[in-house]
Amino acid sequence: MVPYAVRTAEPEDLVELEWSGGAEHIDALARAVQRSYVDEMAVLVITAGRSGPAGTARTVAVGAVDLTKRPGAGELTMLSVRESWQSLGLGTILIAALEAQVRGHGLTRAVLAVEHDNPRAAALYHRLGYRRIGSELDGWPVGPNRSYATVSFLLERNLGN
Ligand SMILES: CC(C)(COP(=O)(O)OP(=O)(O)OC[C@H]1O[C@@H](n2cnc3c(N)ncnc32)[C@H](O)[C@@H]1OP(=O)(O)O)[C@@H](O)C(=O)NCCC(=O)NCCS
Repeated sequence: MVPYAVRTAEPEDLVELEWSGGAEHIDALARAVQRSYVDEMAVLVITAGRSGPAGTARTVAVGAVDLTKRPGAGELTMLSVRESWQSLGLGTILIAALEAQVRGHGLTRAVLAVEHDNPRAAALYHRLGYRRIGSELDGWPVGPNRSYATVSFLLERNLGN
């Protein structure tokens, strides 16, 4: 049994989140943390291990919710669990905490986009009650002057009941 905690991400966490993606991903997380200060986004991390001065806690999951992108809904984004910590239920805990942020901002729908070729993540979201409402062209920068483009399925969960 390892103690864990879910908390708001701080700028200091960014240096320890390199496992979650490349430089562009860390930049996107840094912008999300900035936007969390004006309540446009919320960014959460899960730490595992004992915290405090002599603690061994380290960041094992990160995720964000964009509270402004979709009218009436919060969009869960940048979900990532450190590879050796996957399939232990942390993704489920993270999603529940992000949904609580959506509710806390008076929104009753959560949406998220999952790449068409990521069936494992899609299965988790379906298990948690997300249903497909469409698909969209998705993409993000992966280097200087380079972008990755893909098709994502847009999923939605009604949080009102
Ligand atoms: C997708 C992702 C965020 C899910 O996080 P996770 O911590 O692995 O998710 P969970 O453990 O809550 O649930 C996933 C699996 O664990 C199982 N599980 C959940 N709780 C469990 C428990 N208490 N005991 C045993 N198994 C459990 C689920 O049935 C599911 O099964 P699978 O391993 O066959 O897929 C994570 O796997 C990840 O970072 N993947 C790479 C990046 C990615 O795809 N991000 C999503 C982009 S949309």
